[in-house]
Amino acid sequence: MTTGERSTILISGGAGYIGSHVALALEQAGFSAVVLDSLVKGNRWATEHATAFRQGDIGDAAFVAAVCDEFQPVAALHFAAFIEVGESVQNPAMYFENNRDKAAVFFQTIAAKGVHNVVFSSTAAVYGEPDVVPIPETAPWQPINPYGQSKLDAEIALRAVAGVRSVTLRYFNVAGAAPEAGIGEAHVPESHLLPRLVLPLIGTPESLLDRLGLNSGFKVYGNDYPTPDGTAIRDYIHVLDLADAHVLALRYLLDGGETNIFNLGSGSGYSVQEIVTAARKVLERPDYEPGTAPRRAGDPAALIADSSKALSVLGWKPRRGIEAMIASATAWHRGERYLETIKAKLGDVKV
Ligand SMILES: NC(=O)c1ccc[n+]([C@@H]2O[C@H](COP(=O)([O-])OP(=O)(O)OC[C@H]3O[C@@H](n4cnc5c(N)ncnc54)[C@H](O)[C@@H]3O)[C@@H](O)[C@H]2O)c1
Repeated sequence: MTTGERSTILISGGAGYIGSHVALALEQAGFSAVVLDSLVKGNRWATEHATAFRQGDIGDAAFVAAVCDEFQPVAALHFAAFIEVGESVQNPAMYFENNRDKAAVFFQTIAAKGVHNVVFSSTAAVYGEPDVVPIPETAPWQPINPYGQSKLDAEIALRAVAGVRSVTLRYFNVAGAAPEAGIGEAHVPESHLLPRLVLPLIGTPESLLDRLGLNSGFKVYGNDYPTPDGTAIRDYIHVLDLADAHVLALRYLLDGGETNIFNLGSGSGYSVQEIVTAARKVLERPDYEPGTAPRRAGDPAALIADSSKALSVLGWKPRRGIEAMIASATAWHRGERYLETIKAKLGDVKV
């Protein structure tokens, strides 16, 4: 059950963006992080802060059971999933297989091995386009794409496993990195706003920008929304604040807390224009003017979390603002590790 005196925690998808930052936070908090990841999207280097890494698929019950036998984890954190909304619309079966069906196998397998505390990475996408903002956990479930539906189905599958207590964390927009620890996001395709904003401004080689679809720079989609500055508002949370929330959620379960659901966001949100203004300051580019484009279909004016429950029950509050997110993302995306990883993922790219 323990490695030395430290409780062992199994982390599926811990070679990915968020899981790698959570593994770091768990190790710093005195836990022993064991990462299980197929590397279908993740990176071996992203597991370097963990106590151990085993490569395999969450849907491979024999493999998952063997990892549980080897390490005897007291809890699991489940991150492994596909995360691209657009891809989920093109290929829903791929998302339901990985995010719902394989997740269900994983939950059943670890429960049979005595792992009865599970923290699950869910998403604001389960709410779709809600009528009430800020969005409480009690808002209706109405996902508008297969990604959101597959994550909701996995939530429901987890809560149905007998004998398991779980915390579902519904993240809003995750951003930032821990460049000082050598980890950050390295996604292909890159659909997240901060990397898309920052990468064209920091001397990223043109050949890479081309392949990431960023050759014409970052664009503000829609400046005629009913918001104070006309641009859409989203709720951004620093990945290290998110990691802290996982440590708190884990302790809550290990202390006997009941099955629960928490939104994780800042509770206020930033407009795209506010993010551009912050980027001008952090990157010392007061002259920077992004391009504009029409609103995208299905993009609501504002998506903001009501995170008051996470504060009252878990004692969690985000501490890092948008400038820290931009500064850490910038340092990470400038680094050799990011560039080499993206080049490798894109194949034979000349830079
Ligand atoms: N990034 C965000 O802004 C965001 C927002 C809301 C929710 N989430 C959720 O957070 C979780 C992690 O997201 P991320 O941004 O770190 O994604 P990521 O792609 O960086 O990491 C996912 C990891 O899971 C692994 N994986 C995928 N399928 C697997 C399988 N079948 N078996 C074993 N490993 C597998 C991948 O190799 C990868 O390392 C996901 O569950 C996602 O739904 C992310």
